[in-house]
Order: sequence, then structure tokens, then C-alpha cells
Amino acid sequence: MNLPSHHIEEMISAGDLRSRVDDIVENIAQSIDSENLVIVGVLRGSFMFLADLVRSLHRHNLHPRIDFMTLQSYGGGTASSGNVRILKDVSVDIDGADVLLVDDILDSGRTLRFAVKHIENKGAAKVFTCCLLDKPARRVADIRADFIGFEIPDTFVVGYGLDYDSHYRELPFLGQVMHEEVIHEEVIHEEEIS
Ligand code: IMP
Ligand code: MG
Repeated sequence: MNLPSHHIEEMISAGDLRSRVDDIVENIAQSIDSENLVIVGVLRGSFMFLADLVRSLHRHNLHPRIDFMTLQSYGGGTASSGNVRILKDVSVDIDGADVLLVDDILDSGRTLRFAVKHIENKGAAKVFTCCLLDKPARRVADIRADFIGFEIPDTFVVGYGLDYDSHYRELPFLGQVMHEEVIHEEVIHEEEIS
């Protein structure tokens, strides 16, 4: 692993993630009444969360179509010049559909804001948003998610789909990256790939 010396400390256990996902799904099932629901996961960070989410939704008799889009976010050198681009667009027809966008984490908020606009432009009737994690301290874009799993402090986390330079996505729990030496958070965030 070609990364600065670090270790991972568990922050949210697999069991706590599981029960929170069930709570969120309870909420979603009560709030979204749609015959034409499409769930769109923002890759790659949302894959594990989305997989658990839709399996839990099944118990509520919600049968969405499921698709993914791959977005890449990158900082343009300063914290305020971040940008987002589409690496892979959705493939299903979402014109007139109700869409639930699912992402791993709401950080600056640029990715989710971009995704919402993009899905609206494709003709979705209604766009709902769901993020497993929320780091309100880092918000730049004016956006809130309709459904949130956990609010966390301004710290870099991995596991349950989230990565540090493509590592740790497979962890069944959420962990905090603890650096042995102090390094600038900005460096990490510039290397993020959704
Ligand atoms: P945004 O800043 O809200 O646009 O978030 C961009 C993306 O950065 C998220 O979708 C995540 O993929 C990634 N990201 C933000 N914070 C973290 C973190 O703490 N760990 C891993 N990925 C993160
Ligand atoms: Mg992401």
C-alpha cells in the first residue's frame, strides 16, 4: 500500500450500520409512494450501502428499478474550486420517474448537487436524496439530503464502500483513518474519487 503510515479505527460497527439502514428504509418507505421509482447509486462509494438499502426495501414491498452513475469529483487546487464530471451516465429511462439518488457521503455537497441537477435535467418527476453519512462542517454547496444515516465530524472515513485511494471499500464497518504523521486533509480530499 503506497500510502502514508496510518491505521484504521472503527467508528461505526457493522451491526450499527445494519440497524440504521433499516431505520432509513422505514423512513423512505413512509415518505415515497411511487409506482415508478428508480434508485440511482453514485459509484463507487455507494455500492455497499445501496445493496443493503434495496434488500431492506424489499420487505416494504417497494420494487424500484436500479441503476448507477459514476461521478468523479476533483478539487481544482483550492477548496472552493471543486468540480464534478460524469464518467458513466445512467442507462435506464428516467423521464417521468421518481428518482432516489443514493450516495455514500455528503461532504462539500458538490457531487450530490451536481447529481440532482443532472437527474432533473433528464426529466425525473421528483428527485429524492439519500446519503449514508453527512459531514456538515465541510459543506460548500447549498444542499441537504432527504434521508441521512449518520452525521459525523470532519474526519476522513473508510469502509462500507468508502475508500482511501481505492483501499478499504470492502470493510464491513466504518473506520476513521488515523495518520501516524500529520498530513494536510486537503491532500486527501484532492485525491478523492467517488
Ligand atoms: P462531495 O465533497 O460532497 O462532493 O463528496 C465527494 C465524494 O468524496 C463523496 O461522494 C465521497 O466519495 C468522497 N468523500 C468525501 N469524504 C470522504 C471520506 O471521509 N472518505 C471517503 N470518501 C470521501
Ligand atoms: Mg461517492
